[in-house]
Amino acid sequence: MNNENKIYKPNFKCFESYQQASDFVGKIIVDLVNQKPNAVLGLATGDTPLGVYSFLVKAYEKKEVSFKNVKTFNLDEYVELKSIYKDQSYAFFMSHNLFSKVDINLKNTFFPNKSEDKLDLNKKDYSEYDKEIEKTKLDFQILGIGQNGHIGFNEPGTSLESKTRLVPLTDSTIKANSRFFASENDVPKYAVTMGIQTILANSKQIVLLAFGKNKKEALKALVNNKSFNKDWPCTALLLHPNVTIVCDKEANPL
Ligand code: F6R
Repeated sequence: MNNENKIYKPNFKCFESYQQASDFVGKIIVDLVNQKPNAVLGLATGDTPLGVYSFLVKAYEKKEVSFKNVKTFNLDEYVELKSIYKDQSYAFFMSHNLFSKVDINLKNTFFPNKSEDKLDLNKKDYSEYDKEIEKTKLDFQILGIGQNGHIGFNEPGTSLESKTRLVPLTDSTIKANSRFFASENDVPKYAVTMGIQTILANSKQIVLLAFGKNKKEALKALVNNKSFNKDWPCTALLLHPNVTIVCDKEANPL
């Protein structure tokens, strides 16, 4: 992939608290959008970026930033979410935590599929999403990390060449996500996710956020590996020249 897989050292920023870390990242995004009002942001869902989104909402309310011309691409979305769980879709999450609270134009917000799409194991082509991303590039990509080192829903075993595609979720991810559902059985078993290549090849800057002791092992893998290790998809970030890992003291692997 890039430059014969040259390895880079990610920047590390560890904070005392989730709040301080979230404010740090929120401020970087506000500064970016003020410098480039039509910035393109790659966004994640889950608990991790909530503090960043709340910083962005507050900055918007204080009239410190406008998202009017910002474009966003979310990393992933469930497939075949039962209708009673509509509010667990990642599109709903984004609307609830950010989009409905700022002046972003919803026409400029993109997801790799619709959560209620019927599971179609024969549908192999999600290249439209990659094409859109390749066209605009991502000025700033926020990533969370799974306990198993996944980024997006690129689970262990994912190749560096992976692009946006349908993926089965691993048992550990289903277990982790079951906290939002009445039972593990209700958690969708599939999602569409940007691939590792989609992320690495198109992001100008990547910030990986990791909070809490459950994320420490995955961060350790990222720090201790010297090259891409398929067992820990997060190690793909070693191949990108502009990555910052932002963590709290519980997740600090150093
Ligand atoms: C979500 C995503 C996932 C999460 C990861 C951590 O869009 O891409 O990789 O970032 O599963 O989830 P939380 O933040 O809930 O611990």
